[in-house]
Amino acid sequence: MCGIAGYIGTRNAVDVVFDQLKRLEYRGYDSAGVAFVQADRIGILKRAGKLTQLGGLIEQEKPEANLAIAHSRWATHGGPTDFNAHPHYDQQAKIALIHNGIIENYLELKEELVRAGHTFQSETDTEVAAHIIGREYVEGVSLEDAVRKAVQKMRGAFGFVVISHLDPEKLVCARNASPLVVGLGEGENMVASDIPALLPYTRRVAILENDMVATVTRGEIKVIGLDGRKLELSPFEVDWDIAAAEKGGYDHFMLKEIHEQPAVVRSALAGRIEGHGVALQGLFSDHVWQEIDRVVIIACGTAFHAGLMGKTLFERVLQLPTDVYFSSEFRYGEPVVSPRSLAVFISQSGETADSLAALRLCKSRRIRTLGIVNVVGSSIARECDRTIMTQAGPEISVASTKAYTAQCIVLLLLALHIAQVKETPGVRVGNMVQDLRNFTGYVQASLSLESEMREVAEMFQDAKLVFFLGRNADAHVSLEAALKLKEVAYVPTQECPAGEMKHGPLALIEPGVLAVFGATDSDVREKTVSNMKEVQARGGYVLALTTEDDSSLDSVADRVVKVPKSGSPYLNALVSIVPLQLLAYYVAKARGCEIDQPRNLAKSVTVE
Ligand code: M6R
Repeated sequence: MCGIAGYIGTRNAVDVVFDQLKRLEYRGYDSAGVAFVQADRIGILKRAGKLTQLGGLIEQEKPEANLAIAHSRWATHGGPTDFNAHPHYDQQAKIALIHNGIIENYLELKEELVRAGHTFQSETDTEVAAHIIGREYVEGVSLEDAVRKAVQKMRGAFGFVVISHLDPEKLVCARNASPLVVGLGEGENMVASDIPALLPYTRRVAILENDMVATVTRGEIKVIGLDGRKLELSPFEVDWDIAAAEKGGYDHFMLKEIHEQPAVVRSALAGRIEGHGVALQGLFSDHVWQEIDRVVIIACGTAFHAGLMGKTLFERVLQLPTDVYFSSEFRYGEPVVSPRSLAVFISQSGETADSLAALRLCKSRRIRTLGIVNVVGSSIARECDRTIMTQAGPEISVASTKAYTAQCIVLLLLALHIAQVKETPGVRVGNMVQDLRNFTGYVQASLSLESEMREVAEMFQDAKLVFFLGRNADAHVSLEAALKLKEVAYVPTQECPAGEMKHGPLALIEPGVLAVFGATDSDVREKTVSNMKEVQARGGYVLALTTEDDSSLDSVADRVVKVPKSGSPYLNALVSIVPLQLLAYYVAKARGCEIDQPRNLAKSVTVE
């Protein structure tokens, strides 16, 4: 979750790594720091709070160096204080270290170090790692060998970057589970926890694999394994537009990413539909699809909600039994999966710790795995047997918007691919492909509801509770809409299938409560109308989302928002997420919330 940046070259490294940290702000953090090598010392500046605090300190000290590392910390072990902020020195201040992840056996290691006379400035597991590496870094041992030996004593997840004034021409990185990517420049090289940090400096990048130790100098990047054997990197060119990782005139990344959704749909479909059929490449061969008799979808947060949409499709369209698990529940539960099951992992970042652990569990049980992932080169993308990229471009806002839409589109493409292969009776693939072709236009049209959603948001910015209700696919979209509102606007929400409301949640309805009903599915709309009446009878205000052809709710709901209608109930429900994302955004804006980096949250949850 923490942001990592490191640079060696001819520019002022402190300026470079500080700029790189700014590009990683979206990951969420509560303190930040920088370390730089100057003559015979390593300087460290660090502060609790936002990057502006650290920026002020840098402005005051004006450090100059050709080698620097920087870190933004999301507190796990020890609160967000100046002392707990990274970088950390070892016992003799010979090295400085930044770290992303958790060292699980740090207490055991710390006790051993304390017995040997070490003292600590912070409560962090990271400082323990710095001391362990520093202890290995004795005369005659290279920095990379010290790191290599030290990491073998640690258990847990880590991405480290280490520098030393005793070896001022290199930075050394090691990785186990937490992502690290190196950037290859001309006479300069760098490392970061995520690609957007590198883009202004280079487009040539390589992913560090687990158990790799990389030595980054100005001229080259050398990699060895934990056994000291030389390994090769596989660099590739990033073709994202830099503007895609910047705000491009919008006040917030969240709003920009909501508006990008028509292009995201186009990109998710690009090259994947041909004529009246679906043309997904690089998946399992046909006989494998014939063998698969059950699907388990495993994901967290928004990706889990996309997984529920996948269940609807796989069961309704393909009659393929499908279960959806939270990754954290799957990995510690006793899930029943057989060799004929397919495990589908949905993840924007491709680095979510629980999803990755669940994936490894499935692989250890020889279950076939398929990833639906956004970030190229991420762990889940690489470790799944097969992966379909969502191609949504970088998603910077902590609240996921465009990735959800892309995940749902990819799930529909996948369902149609399976239907084609299995020749599932009754599935009109051609019609659904045509609906998909039209969908970009529907998403575009739904953006014209922006001013209406802003008005509704301003009316309800002080709502004490907002219900999100619906049936079938509308119920799944309601869960996602509720998550958006609570995470960016900090408004308490109650979400459940509309028919479930009477079994308890109805007790929460009283005057001042807003109930948002997804009612795009005409098959069950009449049932939902009864639920609207139940809310109104108890003083609640009903906002209904329905399709543009429906006037049945005009005289029922207190306010009706109409979304474009496509041929498929799945897509009708999906398009309604756009105005609901806008609702969350504008409520958050009206309440003065920090929209792109909500309190307590991080973009990529790389700790369990
Ligand atoms: O990167 P992932 O898709 O695996 O992340 C999963 C969740 O952490 C993520 O969707 C989270 O719930 C978002 N903040 C939701 O907006």
